[in-house]
Amino acid sequence: MKETINGLSVFLEGSSKNKSIIFVHGFPYDRTMWKAQIDELSEKYFCVAYDIRGLGESPAGDGQFTMESFVDDLEIIIGELKLDKPVICGLSMGGYISLRAIERMQGKFSAAVLCDTRSEADNNEGKLKRAAAIKRINTEGLIPFAKDFVTNCFGDPYKRNNKEDFEKRIAKSSSFDPVGVKGSLLAMMGRNDTTEYLSKIKIPSLFICGEFDALTPPSVMMPLAEKVIGAEFVVIKNSGHMSPIENPKEVNEAIKKFLDRL
Ligand code: MLT
Repeated sequence: MKETINGLSVFLEGSSKNKSIIFVHGFPYDRTMWKAQIDELSEKYFCVAYDIRGLGESPAGDGQFTMESFVDDLEIIIGELKLDKPVICGLSMGGYISLRAIERMQGKFSAAVLCDTRSEADNNEGKLKRAAAIKRINTEGLIPFAKDFVTNCFGDPYKRNNKEDFEKRIAKSSSFDPVGVKGSLLAMMGRNDTTEYLSKIKIPSLFICGEFDALTPPSVMMPLAEKVIGAEFVVIKNSGHMSPIENPKEVNEAIKKFLDRL
């Protein structure tokens, strides 16, 4: 079922009587990146996935986004749907949103699943890369940027064995509103560092990372997980940055085991 909340496209699967999970996707993707997880988990959980403002089916408006406004959107969705302490599940940019949401309102969540993400804000080099990306989109259009970015996200095994699906993902990201894509880049560029808060996280947390993740490799994610008391850390085989798409079997297994223990 689809709903529009605060202008955003929100998709609901499973019975609302069950425990809820809210999925927050990465950049430059949309909620469909969670399809394999939602197909399986919606049998037992109320799965809520939305398109972040400016991406997928959620309109870009003026594209003036901040990490805070992304968290505001998430808070409004949780409030409108009256979700009772959902599990928050975010990947990469979705992980930045999730970590900041936990920092702002930890009491609203029962657990966290953080995939292929980091707590550090962009350093100077990272900020310059975002600025160069915006300039490139302005001068060349979205397609070359989307192609390069998406190519870097996926590991070689997936690109080799799923050529058609991989091309479709590039085409989809290339079709987004460039204003929305640039808005996400600006929001990520201006986000706060959430590292200080990691040791204050009290909710059960699972960290997941693709073994070949080139953007947030296990060497970055392991120390992140170690800062969260009692957190679990799982490395996903044969996967790059997009572990829920690249190896859904192992990701689903890890999430289900974690949720069963809650
Ligand atoms: C993502 O997958 O959301 C992006 O890689 C995040 C980023 O560019 O920092």
